[in-house]
Amino acid sequence: MDTPDISTASSSKGAAAIARSGALRAHVAVDGDAGFDVVPLGPGIAADIVGLDLSAPLADATARALRDAWLHYMVLRFSDQQLSKEALLAFSRRFGQLDRAPINSKGSSWIDGYPDLAVMSNVKIDGAPVGSLGFGEAVWHTDMSYQEVTPSAALLYGLEVTDTGGETGFMSMYEAYDSLPADLKAAVEGGQIKHDASYNSAGQLRKGFTPVTDVRVSPGALHPIVIRHPETGRRALFLGRRPNGYVVGLPLEESEALLDRLWAHAYAQPNTWFQKWRVGDLVMWDNRCTMHKRTAFDESLRRYLLRTTVVDRRPSA
Ligand SMILES: [Fe+2]
Repeated sequence: MDTPDISTASSSKGAAAIARSGALRAHVAVDGDAGFDVVPLGPGIAADIVGLDLSAPLADATARALRDAWLHYMVLRFSDQQLSKEALLAFSRRFGQLDRAPINSKGSSWIDGYPDLAVMSNVKIDGAPVGSLGFGEAVWHTDMSYQEVTPSAALLYGLEVTDTGGETGFMSMYEAYDSLPADLKAAVEGGQIKHDASYNSAGQLRKGFTPVTDVRVSPGALHPIVIRHPETGRRALFLGRRPNGYVVGLPLEESEALLDRLWAHAYAQPNTWFQKWRVGDLVMWDNRCTMHKRTAFDESLRRYLLRTTVVDRRPSA
């Protein structure tokens, strides 16, 4: 395998140096630490991070180098991890304050005593689901875009996974914006989308919400259609999810037509990358410049993952 020597690169420049070199695998040196290897996975999106045990405390310099890699590749995968709930929370907190996880249908945390942990699972105990999203497809979306303040990072850790199905796909919303045809770019400039809060990405009605009959008046946060990433400064298309979206201020038919065109453009993005889960995989994505989806899987199989999200700020243009 091609292993260029970039070990003299400073930690803050390591991931960018790898990207420029086009390396298949390269080492990021970190002062006072062993560093880690980066193996790009998809075309311009996603990389494996090799050589870190995330159950151990992370040196500050390593955390900074990881943040740099994450900002560049948008999706990072750490395989063969053995993380307790506390270790997953501790690692997640290296990237900022954690958000409360969405509550279950009884209005409480999915796991008692762990309000920051969301459970993604189809497993049921005595007929009651232990997590959200079931076994069906979860459509392309950005996590929690229906909130005013949306997450920067989302981390998903696989404890029980399926051999086939249940893959998590990612696309770059930088690329989705950059590749918009000129007329669509002009049509979205300065516009806002209302992100429906009523349903989750599996189409299930959230507790306390009523079915949507008119997207113009249904509940949800308003965000710019094109946001500027607060750390990279790049512009990204920010669509949230298609069902019950609404372009603020437009007649309903025009809003539907514009959203249909934008989503057709997103669905046609050529550079998606799909994570095929193995037990012990931790996947961390930048929720500001990616969308993700979950493919359906056989409901007789068990799938159980833990998710955390890091609080960011209101998306801005
Ligand atoms: Fe999600």
